Amino acid sequence: MVDALGIAVIGFGWMGRVHTQAYSRVRHHFPRLPLRPELVTVAEEVPGRAEEAAERYGFTTATRDWREIAADPRVRAVSITAPNFLHREIGVAMAEAGKHVWVEKPVGLSGEDARAVADAVAKAGVRSAVGFNYRCAPAVESARDLIAAGELGAVTHVRVRLFSDYAAHPDGALTWRYERARGGSGVLGDLASHGTDLARFLVGDIASLAADTAVFVPERARPAGATAGHALASGGAPGPVENEDYVNCLLRFASGARGVLEACRVSVGEQNNYGFEVHGTRGAVFWNFRRMNELRVSRGTTYQDQPVSTVYVGPGDGEFAAFQPGAANAMGYDDLKVIEAYRFLRSIAEGEPYGATLTDAVRAAAALDAMAESAERRGWVDLPAT
Ligand SMILES: NC(=O)c1ccc[n+]([C@@H]2O[C@H](COP(=O)([O-])OP(=O)(O)OC[C@H]3O[C@@H](n4cnc5c(N)ncnc54)[C@H](O)[C@@H]3O)[C@@H](O)[C@H]2O)c1
Repeated sequence: MVDALGIAVIGFGWMGRVHTQAYSRVRHHFPRLPLRPELVTVAEEVPGRAEEAAERYGFTTATRDWREIAADPRVRAVSITAPNFLHREIGVAMAEAGKHVWVEKPVGLSGEDARAVADAVAKAGVRSAVGFNYRCAPAVESARDLIAAGELGAVTHVRVRLFSDYAAHPDGALTWRYERARGGSGVLGDLASHGTDLARFLVGDIASLAADTAVFVPERARPAGATAGHALASGGAPGPVENEDYVNCLLRFASGARGVLEACRVSVGEQNNYGFEVHGTRGAVFWNFRRMNELRVSRGTTYQDQPVSTVYVGPGDGEFAAFQPGAANAMGYDDLKVIEAYRFLRSIAEGEPYGATLTDAVRAAAALDAMAESAERRGWVDLPAT
């Protein structure tokens, strides 16, 4: 008999839907999971949106007030998929109420917010997961395994890039993402957070960094009503963009490796161009999210003119076998969230962490704070040792 685990989702925009679908699918892919998530309730402030989500996805109840969830004994685990400014308040309240939390990146507006949620989770003894989905891609796990096994020799340098056009349109609405008070940082929290987690996941802790940031679209139109995702709002009254569109950052890893992380949300012609290149003394590995199930690998002892092969990930890589029976049957973005859900629920069932947790969020947030500080004072910043 598999125990049921009551789930609540708070904030039903893009990520609310993706988390909900991940809970619905997780046992299809991981039938041995000793917990059965049950969609109990959904909270959403836009009138009608929670009811519509309940109707479509099968939550038992819907509410406009997330605070009701802290007191709801049916709920044992919560997805926090509301905008960044709510992560801290909701995360701390849910942990204090004894609920396990799966919170979207970047976990609040700053490193201090991420630490507050991490402290509340640790104090309450509940489990956590953080939405660093790209590290769940089987190809990324396979790259990490190659690096850890020394197949590339010693890692020398790394490039991580996250270019997107989601904010490139001049009519892109001035949503919470562009405000300090509700979004915090801009592309730092939105995309560089993923890049920082990937860099740490592959190469280890970042010791110091030097960053430069820029705003390229300084004004946007205020939306007339509720938004979700990356809405357009032509004709609205213009308002200022308060956070950065672009970051370029030099990294020094604790291992001595060097790196470059570049992220931009206004890159015309770049649709989710996310990826990395990791170079070592004997080889290299390349990954591009748009070809998520492939790795390009160069290894051997030739050094110069050493060939690069394309490897299609397969059932031996990461959690690929839970989705497809053979290499080159493609997995997609939503599958990464199913893996995240699996690791979150498994950590609840077994009482130990699997996948990215709030500890990873705190480390990534510390690097993002350091990038902001470095850009502000135009110099290198050391990160606290872990
Ligand atoms: N892991 C990823 O790849 C990824 C991708 C996109 C967004 N995110 C993160 O997910 C979070 C949400 O992003 P999104 O793209 O889904 O945003 P979104 O704007 O599409 O959705 C946010 C939802 O929260 C709702 N909301 C706002 N205030 C609320 C409140 N007080 N109570 C309940 N609901 C409230 C909004 O009405 C909206 O429906 C952000 O923290 C973002 O950084 C992660």
